[in-house]
Amino acid sequence: MFFRNAFSIFVLMLNNKPIGIFDSGYGGLTVFRSIFGQLPGYDYIYLGDTARAPYGNRSFQTIHQYTWECVQWLFKQGCPLVILACNTASAKALRTIQQHDLKNEDTSKRVLGVIRPTAEVIGNYTASKEIGVLGTKGTVNSGSYLIEIGHFAPDVQVYQQACPLWVPLIENGEHDKPGADYFVKEYLDQILAQSAGIDTLLLACTHYPLLAEKIKAYSPADIKVVAQGDIVAASLVDYLQRHPEMDEKLTRNGTQHFFTTTDDTADFDHYAEIFFSAKVKSSYAEVKC
Ligand code: DGL
Repeated sequence: MFFRNAFSIFVLMLNNKPIGIFDSGYGGLTVFRSIFGQLPGYDYIYLGDTARAPYGNRSFQTIHQYTWECVQWLFKQGCPLVILACNTASAKALRTIQQHDLKNEDTSKRVLGVIRPTAEVIGNYTASKEIGVLGTKGTVNSGSYLIEIGHFAPDVQVYQQACPLWVPLIENGEHDKPGADYFVKEYLDQILAQSAGIDTLLLACTHYPLLAEKIKAYSPADIKVVAQGDIVAASLVDYLQRHPEMDEKLTRNGTQHFFTTTDDTADFDHYAEIFFSAKVKSSYAEVKC
């Protein structure tokens, strides 16, 4: 019975053309949750590179190498479309993948990120036209949000703050413990000190929604705290409407498969459930080329 079920999953995966969703670890699951909410019928493969996370403090070359290895792995599983549900990977690797790496692949494959869709709409959230962007060191140092928001909402002033300790806190399950309060307050105080006019804080890291309650608790009551999940999901819906050639390729058997690069899948399942708000049963992915 077990082998028959495993075999049917294998055959289903073989024929599926799923949407691939990638993150360095668990954070992308907050985006996947929103995407699945808006596009429930499609097939999905989620890959978390948990063995090599966090990416946030790593070099450009390393982030690009790891991300491209994971994207190639998702392509091998049959995904014609991969979403980098990770700001750090979107900031540091997406452009090289789109402009260079994909040229040596099947040219119909696509890789999309989370920064552009967010930058397209974030200007609509602010009345004061001042936004605070909270992200990893990699995302902040790349200047991607300054460039992209400047492009779509040139009248908006963008302030940035790197929060390098938030991802390790979250990945280690410490985000809802009292000890996390100190580090939440630390970075919030720093961004809010940059301008009294900031009325919107963008959580520009897919892990940060897990800290959203604490971030709200330590921010002035009239500040909006914006997570990206629903924004990215709405943008994907729009993308598939504008690209029927891709939409027709994607299969719709309603399957979800989760993969982790850590051999301890039970550990992944435990944390993934917190991010995804549903039970997760993952498998090990041997990604390294
Ligand atoms: N979830 C990734 C992001 O959105 C975080 C990264 C990490 O440091 O691995 O940036």
